[in-house]
Amino acid sequence: MIELEDLPGVGPATAEKLREAGYSSIEAIAVASPAELGASAEIGEATASKIINAARQSADIGGFETGDMVFERRQKVGKISTGCTEFDEMLAGGIESQGITEIYGEFGSGKTQLTHQLSVNVQLPVEYGGLDGSVIIIDTENTFRPERIKQMVEGRARALDLDLDPEEILRNIHVARAYNSNHQMLLVDSAVDLANELKESGKPVRLLVVDSVTSHFRAEYIGRGTLSDRQQRLNKHLHSLQKFADVFNAVVLVTNQVMSKPDAFFGDPTRPIGGHVLGHTATFRLYIRKSKGEKRIVKLIDSPNLPEGEAIIAVTGYGLEDA
Ligand code: GTP
Ligand code: MG
Repeated sequence: MIELEDLPGVGPATAEKLREAGYSSIEAIAVASPAELGASAEIGEATASKIINAARQSADIGGFETGDMVFERRQKVGKISTGCTEFDEMLAGGIESQGITEIYGEFGSGKTQLTHQLSVNVQLPVEYGGLDGSVIIIDTENTFRPERIKQMVEGRARALDLDLDPEEILRNIHVARAYNSNHQMLLVDSAVDLANELKESGKPVRLLVVDSVTSHFRAEYIGRGTLSDRQQRLNKHLHSLQKFADVFNAVVLVTNQVMSKPDAFFGDPTRPIGGHVLGHTATFRLYIRKSKGEKRIVKLIDSPNLPEGEAIIAVTGYGLEDA
């Protein structure tokens, strides 16, 4: 692994300052702006620029690619089936790797259920709609429930007529609690380390969940009048998530709660938290809302290559199923 000290112009003192400012990896530096980096590490902008350029080269990002290279990379896009016919059809097969999918909706609408279901489905063989991969979950609300995973495994085993071991599936789900937004951002670096470790194992990480991506940011910045600061950090976080999706050809799934009661600080109460920053960074946006009983309506809001659409699903004892 390349250390910060390996970058030209970065001595031990500067490296220390960078780490203290939260730039713990080459990747984090590569996507920083010279002004931001300069200010937080107390170095001149010109020096910051040089460091960023060097980091970009080492991290192999930020350059141009030709169309055929993009095409070749796109050929490798994998999809995780949701296990629901209409939902999969709306997504042309399932939730795509190499991108961030955001699911937003009110409390209890089923966002966390979807993250649990995909954590099971991603582990299935490709012919059953999985990616034969393992999962990392960054849990900010302490809502990961292994017992729920077991129910969903049973549901999939029945529906697909497969022999699945719930214990083994649980062993391939790596969960970390994030205690604040800073910690949440640092956990992406840990996720990169873990994904590198598991790269050559039989179960490389193909799904990274952040549930919820916005709750800490929202709570910490309430009433502080520092909306742009919050958005900047959220933006940085999303960039590192996108990088994860690209590097590991993984699905990144983030949840975002919509406030049901008016919230003056964030303006329009029906708009997802995170506003336009999340909107422009997420590759796919799904809006989920409650319908009668177990039924939920999922709407595809934004996609670069798919038409908008709606799908009806059910949240049952076995997880997500056809309604
Ligand atoms: P917040 O995190 O509060 O914003 O909500 P969320 O969108 O993450 O909601 P979540 O995914 O936790 O959905 C909770 C809902 O899922 C419950 O109200 C139930 O309707 C359903 N649900 C959860 N567990 C079960 C279960 O074991 N059986 C059934 N039938 N439904 C369940
Ligand atoms: Mg939830």
